Amino acid sequence: MKASAVGKIILFGEHAVVYGRAALAVPVTQMRAQVEVLPSSRPGIWIDAPDVKVSAELNTLPSDHPLAALIHNLFFALAVDPFPDLSIHITSSIPVASGLGSGAAVSVALTRALCGALARPLTDEQVSSYAFEIEKLHHGTPSGIDNAVITYDRPIYYVKDRPIEMLRVAEPFTIVIGYTGIPAPTRDAVAAVRRLWEAQPDEWNVVFDGMQTLSQLAREAMESGRWRHLGPLMNENHALLQRLTVSSPELERLIAASREAGALGAKLSGGGRGGNMIALAPGNGPQAVADALDAAGAARVIITEVRQQD
Ligand code: MEV
Repeated sequence: MKASAVGKIILFGEHAVVYGRAALAVPVTQMRAQVEVLPSSRPGIWIDAPDVKVSAELNTLPSDHPLAALIHNLFFALAVDPFPDLSIHITSSIPVASGLGSGAAVSVALTRALCGALARPLTDEQVSSYAFEIEKLHHGTPSGIDNAVITYDRPIYYVKDRPIEMLRVAEPFTIVIGYTGIPAPTRDAVAAVRRLWEAQPDEWNVVFDGMQTLSQLAREAMESGRWRHLGPLMNENHALLQRLTVSSPELERLIAASREAGALGAKLSGGGRGGNMIALAPGNGPQAVADALDAAGAARVIITEVRQQD
C-alpha cells in the first residue's frame, strides 16, 4: 500500500496563527513524502527512512520518536492487536527543517498508507488530527496549520480550533520559493516568539492583530482575482515578522534580491531564522526572480503555481 503527501508554504500569518489569528497556507505539489507499507516475512515492524537516517524495528526506537509515536497512537486508536509484521519504506523530497512541512507530510502519508494496509479508512479530519499529535512532538506548540493544509492538499484559510475553510483562488498566480540552505527547526523559532510574547503580551498582540488583518485582506485579494495586491501585503507581513525577530541576514539577502528582480512582494515563510522565503512573481513570469535568487546564493529555488484545485 502506497500513499504520498505534498509539501506546503505559509503565504500569510505564520507565528500569529499559533496565537489564534488567521493564516493562509497552500500546498506545494513539486515535493512529496512517499510511504510504502508491505507485509513483512520478518517478525516486527521494520522502518526504513533513509532521509532521516532511520533503519530500525519499531520497538527499538524511543517511544517519543515521531515515527514510533505515530504508529503506536494510530494502532492504539484503531485497537490493532497484535501488531502485524510490516515493512515500511519512507522517502521524501521535502527538505527537512526548512518550513516546508516535511514532518507533517511524512505523518500524513504514513497514516494513510498504514490505514490502507489495514483496510481501515480514515476521514481527512482524522488523518489531520493524528498528524497534529506528531506535530506537537516536532514543534512543541504548533497551530495545526501544517497538518491541515497537507492533509487537505488545498489552499486554506486557517484559524486554530475552528473548522478549516478552503480558499477560492479566482486567478492563478506564481510563487518563487528560495531556500537559504540554513535548516531552522520551527520549534526553536516558535519558542523564541513565545518568550517575547510572555514578556510583553500587549505589544505582541498588536503585531499579531496586524498579521490577522493582512491574512484577511490577502484572502479577499485571492478570492476576487486581484492577486497582484498580495505583493504589498507580503511586504507588510514581512516587516511584522522582522519585528518579531524571526528574520535572518540570509533571508533578508534573498528577499532583497527578489524584490530588485521585480517580485511584487516577498517575505519569509514558516518559522523563519533560516528556512525559506517566498516571492510573488510578476505577470511576465517567475524566471527573473528565480535567477536572482540563484545569483544571491539560494540553496534551492522552486517555482510553484497557486491555483484552484478541484
Ligand atoms: C509553521 O509552518 C508555521 C508557524 O506558525 C508554526 C505553527 O503554526 O505551528 C511558525
